[in-house]
Amino acid sequence: AIDISSLRSETSHITLDPGYKNTGATTSAITFLDGEKGILRYRGYPIEQLAEKSSFIEVSYLLIYGSLPTAEQLDNFSDRIRRHTLVNEDMRKILDGFPATAHPMGILSALISSLTAFYPESLKSPQSEEEMDLSVIRLMAKLPTIAAWSYKNSIGHPVVYPKNKLDYGSNFLNMMFAYPTENYEVDPVVVDALNKLLILHADHEQNCSTSTVRLVGSAHASLYSSVSAGISALWGPLHGGANQAVIEMLEAIKADGGDSKKFIEKAKDKNDPFRLMGFGHRVYKNFDPRAKIIKKSADDVLSALGVKDPILDIAKELEEAALNDSYFVERKLYPNVDFYSGIIYRALGIPTNMFTVMFALGRLPGWIAQWKEMRENKEPIGRPRQVYVGETERDYVAVEKR
Ligand code: ACO
Repeated sequence: AIDISSLRSETSHITLDPGYKNTGATTSAITFLDGEKGILRYRGYPIEQLAEKSSFIEVSYLLIYGSLPTAEQLDNFSDRIRRHTLVNEDMRKILDGFPATAHPMGILSALISSLTAFYPESLKSPQSEEEMDLSVIRLMAKLPTIAAWSYKNSIGHPVVYPKNKLDYGSNFLNMMFAYPTENYEVDPVVVDALNKLLILHADHEQNCSTSTVRLVGSAHASLYSSVSAGISALWGPLHGGANQAVIEMLEAIKADGGDSKKFIEKAKDKNDPFRLMGFGHRVYKNFDPRAKIIKKSADDVLSALGVKDPILDIAKELEEAALNDSYFVERKLYPNVDFYSGIIYRALGIPTNMFTVMFALGRLPGWIAQWKEMRENKEPIGRPRQVYVGETERDYVAVEKR
């Protein structure tokens, strides 16, 4: 802990706020979030309505351009995306350089960054509106292709090319699963569930990965490099990596005999680094509205697909036990969006190492919208200050005298 009273006067005008718990870095007109009341709205529209009625591509348009599209605008947006789903064949050589053990998030980040090599005009600063928009469309179109490639690499299968007659979600699922299943047909239940999950993840104001995208972009780095940095931030287990960590935790509880209470005690023990993954949130302190929608969706999807997954029961037991435990109640720790999302992904046939990639797929329009807003508002380069607590001035000592 730093004793604020001891700070030297020349730095005392700097606000010290580790983790930016109370510091606003920008104004934004994209996403409204009230952590106390559990409210989340994209451009004013409640998340509950969007998850129920909209499509991911429509929500992407809403986030990126600020209003719901007319039917013509939506068609035009979808068509433009379809036209750009192919990825340059030379990018396959980069993919081929990765061992099968490479985590798909590492591949995704590297390949998205390497798009700058194929579209060097994206490095220009300043950019015209049309140039910026072309990068937006390319990124929306190519990320699902690259994401599916990253999975194919991990299982040693050939890549499946995009099928542009399919909608956004179906095309992604087809690239994931069409080979080696002959006559693979995308199940509409799976597409609907995917659509909902992607919408729920589409934006979340100034979270760690989005702030990263804005900060990198504030140096006028390209959209591709900025989003690649956001993917790296999202990979961390305290952020997007939590959905994978939740399933691994639930599996471990099951393998240990299924005693959820034992793991609740472990999470409370301050000498044990174990945390209840999928619990707690920096901003939501009463409930995460996305978790409510997802919990219901997990029940619906599993029953529609006829899947019985014992770890869903363990998750529910764990939630019940935590919500009745003073440790979790006092600290306002509730399930977050990722507590149940992994269970749905699993039921949809998405492998565990792809869960965070699925989050990136959903978060993409949010990153794009935030990057675009930051550039359009001509925000200055982000450059946090610090409070120096190191040595005061001292003289260099020759190595033999130390
Ligand atoms: N299990 C056990 N204890 C917890 C947990 C947890 N999951 N989360 C927080 N706590 C405790 C902390 O130990 C701390 O206790 P203390 O006051 O006795 O020291 C207190 O609750 C406050 O926690 P902080 O870490 O200070 O809260 P912060 O806002 O910094 O962290 C975070 C939020 C990172 C999400 C945290 O709750 C966590 O690590 N959760 C598990 C990982 C997770 O699910 N991440 C996904 C977040 S959502 C997303 O990115 C989409």
